[in-house]
Amino acid sequence: MSREFAWPRLLTASGKGIAYGGDYNPDQWPEHVWAQDVELMRKAGVNVVALGIFSWDRIQPSEHEWDFDWLDRVIGMLGEAGISVDLASATASAPLWLYEAHPEVLPRDKYGHAINPGSRQSWSPSSPVFREYALTLCRKLAERYGENPTVTAWHVGNEYGWNNRHDYSDNALHDFRRWCQKKYGTIDALNEAWCSAFWSQELRSFDEVLLPRHMGADAMVNPAQQLDFERFGNDMLLDFFRAERDAIAQICPNKPITTNFMISTDQCAMNYSQWAHDVDFVSNDHYFHEGESHLDELLCSDSLVSSIAKRKPWYLMEHSTSSVQWKPVNARKRNGELERDALAHVAMGADAINFFQWRQSRGGAEAFHSAMLPHAGADTNLFRQVCETGATLRDLSEQGLPGTQIAPSHVAILFDAQSQWSTEIPTLPTTKLDHWHDVRDWYRAFLDSGVRADVTPLAYDWDDYDLVVLPTVFMLSDADVNRLKAYVERGGKLLVGYATGIVNEHFQVGLGGYPGAGNGTLREMLGVSGEEFNILGDIEGEPNTVELSDGGVTSLWQTCLTRVADNAHVIARYSGDSAREWELQDMPAIVSHDYGDGHTWYVGCDLRREDLAHIIQHELLPAINVQATDPNIATIERANGDHVFRTYINRRQQSVTMELDEREQSDIVLLYRGERAQNTITLQRNGVLMVRVR
Ligand code: GLA
Ligand code: GLA
Repeated sequence: MSREFAWPRLLTASGKGIAYGGDYNPDQWPEHVWAQDVELMRKAGVNVVALGIFSWDRIQPSEHEWDFDWLDRVIGMLGEAGISVDLASATASAPLWLYEAHPEVLPRDKYGHAINPGSRQSWSPSSPVFREYALTLCRKLAERYGENPTVTAWHVGNEYGWNNRHDYSDNALHDFRRWCQKKYGTIDALNEAWCSAFWSQELRSFDEVLLPRHMGADAMVNPAQQLDFERFGNDMLLDFFRAERDAIAQICPNKPITTNFMISTDQCAMNYSQWAHDVDFVSNDHYFHEGESHLDELLCSDSLVSSIAKRKPWYLMEHSTSSVQWKPVNARKRNGELERDALAHVAMGADAINFFQWRQSRGGAEAFHSAMLPHAGADTNLFRQVCETGATLRDLSEQGLPGTQIAPSHVAILFDAQSQWSTEIPTLPTTKLDHWHDVRDWYRAFLDSGVRADVTPLAYDWDDYDLVVLPTVFMLSDADVNRLKAYVERGGKLLVGYATGIVNEHFQVGLGGYPGAGNGTLREMLGVSGEEFNILGDIEGEPNTVELSDGGVTSLWQTCLTRVADNAHVIARYSGDSAREWELQDMPAIVSHDYGDGHTWYVGCDLRREDLAHIIQHELLPAINVQATDPNIATIERANGDHVFRTYINRRQQSVTMELDEREQSDIVLLYRGERAQNTITLQRNGVLMVRVR
């Protein structure tokens, strides 16, 4: 059951508005700095901070000692300045005294070594001792600040799964056995699901269940066991979050509670489509990808966030004003990117724009991570942009944007965390599969075709979309296949990509020809059947790409289709010298098929983005009758009953020019990095236009 949506109040007169601020870590600074912080926050238009995320040690300096005075003072100062507090449970980083007294709370790595304290999240989610300490802290904070009017939301933990996603301790082993028992009921069911007859691994009881600990340098792990371990890690942390949340909510039932997710297209720590039911409002941390994918990647990630938030407003809990410090090469943001990113998140449904962090650290591991107030101080280009962005967001609040909901697309690209975990299993036809990256490629190819798609969890409802795309959804259960079948039978249009529907939820391969999911139902829907996978790579003396008859190029995976239904239509075949070399000559690569009242397409190989766009433009869009808009510009709408806020964002590194219709001309809400000449607008690089139409 989902919790009811609740959004934190601001300390503005109406309690509403776009929340603007960042993580605030005053405990890293002497107290005389705090007054300056608050003054500059006001100048920047900051109206909220996430406070105390890593402050456990300051709050509880030893087991029986509590110090709230400093926190009282900070919260008091912030409140007086009209800045609300999203107060942390402060449990993300435990004090050293706790580890010294209870080394058993440390997680173990797969070799059985204890993880050393000294960083953060170095605790085992399965440790009952740790849980007790953490819940005590939650209760103490809720008792002290539950009624405090400045504290308007709770920020539980921080990025669950960072650093303690995989715990191989004895506590974890104990819980994993119970988890398996609850899931499978009988050991026979588990043996069946895990195919444990393989390599003599049959289990006689749940006491024999093992964690996939290190089994030797060359050992290969049972993927079904590995996958259950991934699910278990997710569930343990979710359980931990719930316990913390409930400890706070019992004392302070009326303030919304969240935890910050980590959704971006290159990571998948948790199954957030599940977690989203457990927060009062969804919040996410997003760090930009450097290079030409920057904006597209942001929109793609945000699309999933907005889907899991069920289109309700969501909270951007962290992003960066400029560079991070945790990549090999940390690109900074150019002039304009800070505000453009903030506006893009707002366009995608965020009603809160927060950064990590307020004041850039002078020491510690994150000293070179950008912040709202940089090392060089307030008289800086960066701080001026921070202030400007604050003013812009205040203006958008006054125009009535907060609370509006993002309009759905006609197209859903399905994402499934479990398929992502599956493509990370090392014993596949290739280790280069990546579900998320293929979601991103399809998303971008739609943008290239002038259509903004929605990224939607497989587990959610996508029945109302005109077109559903499954890119590398490696794992499909029988139930999932039946949902797809019902969707197409009723007239839905379905595109299935390569490496989709290969295994079921227990990582068992569907038999009788690929893709075998749903006991052959998927094959029947697609009108195809394949026998082998042709995998390309850097193999000496062999071609590493293959051409298609429609001009496409594949470079990783080709499903060797040996049967195509009579009523299916082959759209493209493998052709040319490389195809001949690999004995793929004339083999069907892309096939379409009528099924029920609907239609399917099967794309049996990976393709370049431009090839995906070609399919979208020549096959998919004509079939669903969707009007494309200018592909140079991402167009996004948020609406309530009265208004539509339409945002146009330049996707290119050059200026682009667009025309405004009459209504739009009189209703410009915001023009950022753009010029208007009568009915045309030229958006520069990072330019954004927002109009409000009735
Ligand atoms: C994460 C954490 C923050 C900070 C940032 C740095 O999002 O939640 O505490 O470490 O990364 O990018
Ligand atoms: C070795 C083993 C076999 C099998 C193959 C797979 O030869 O003896 O059991 O695992 O590798 O290539």
